[in-house]
Amino acid sequence: MQAAQPHASIANAPIGVFDSGVGGLSVLQHIRQLLPHESLLYFADSGFAPYGDKPEAVIVQRSLAIAQFLLVQGIKALVVACNTATAAAIAAIRQAHPSLIVIGVEPGLKPAIALSKTGIIGVMATRRTLESQKFIALKTQLSKESKVSFLPQACVGLADQIEKGELQSQATALLLQRYVAPLIAQGADTLVLGCTHYPFVLPLIRQLLQQSGKQASDVSIVDTGDAVARHLQRLLMQDCCLHAAGSPGTLGTYTTGPRSGLSNALHNLLKLDDAKELVQALALA
Ligand code: DGL
Repeated sequence: MQAAQPHASIANAPIGVFDSGVGGLSVLQHIRQLLPHESLLYFADSGFAPYGDKPEAVIVQRSLAIAQFLLVQGIKALVVACNTATAAAIAAIRQAHPSLIVIGVEPGLKPAIALSKTGIIGVMATRRTLESQKFIALKTQLSKESKVSFLPQACVGLADQIEKGELQSQATALLLQRYVAPLIAQGADTLVLGCTHYPFVLPLIRQLLQQSGKQASDVSIVDTGDAVARHLQRLLMQDCCLHAAGSPGTLGTYTTGPRSGLSNALHNLLKLDDAKELVQALALA
């Protein structure tokens, strides 16, 4: 029984989750659903968003600084809830913190292969993700093994629209139309949401597909938020640091952007009443 003591205190520690902005909240909501007893610390680097057009070295430097900040808050695990930061910086984070559980997110190419009937898969992501060695290596290996074609589509400006809270605006619809229509025209029957911001415009994507005559069953859409939460659960169990059932976990939030941006996102995207949440503006420059 005595040996269980250190584990109990680690189990009570929070899990850190970060993104360039509010996109990682799409992953956070799956973690909250699956692991309601875990306390979470969410860090939105909105003052430096978007990451998608930043040089890799800048993303590595931001990611290391955020990981360090969250470690000082006592986290037991870190979820890099950003495809762009995962591609650029996860190796550096793991190297800097070898004993920390670090989980990243990657465009769901494997689940897309399982879903696609035409073998043509559109991959929507930031330019930085699509140009990363990590993505190119995975895409090349999987295309060889499975003979599917991946159509990478850099969605420049889309994460910005979502940061602004424009989930249904005309401008966002036009942008999405510009990115999605060519993928469908080339025969894609599966779209991978390779950026954690994009699940928040899933209703708009569905609407646009419907307007172009597609039924919901004609086009599969892949979001890996749920798989990331399940992976986190597995690793916490393996390390014996899953929080015991009991009272619901708390959520602490940090942003390098305006406080109102994150509190509006918590309210509008996750239906969380920010009065119950800790929102701290943080200048991590
Ligand atoms: N949410 C981030 C991702 O998953 C990217 C958005 C950005 O460009 O900052 O890649």
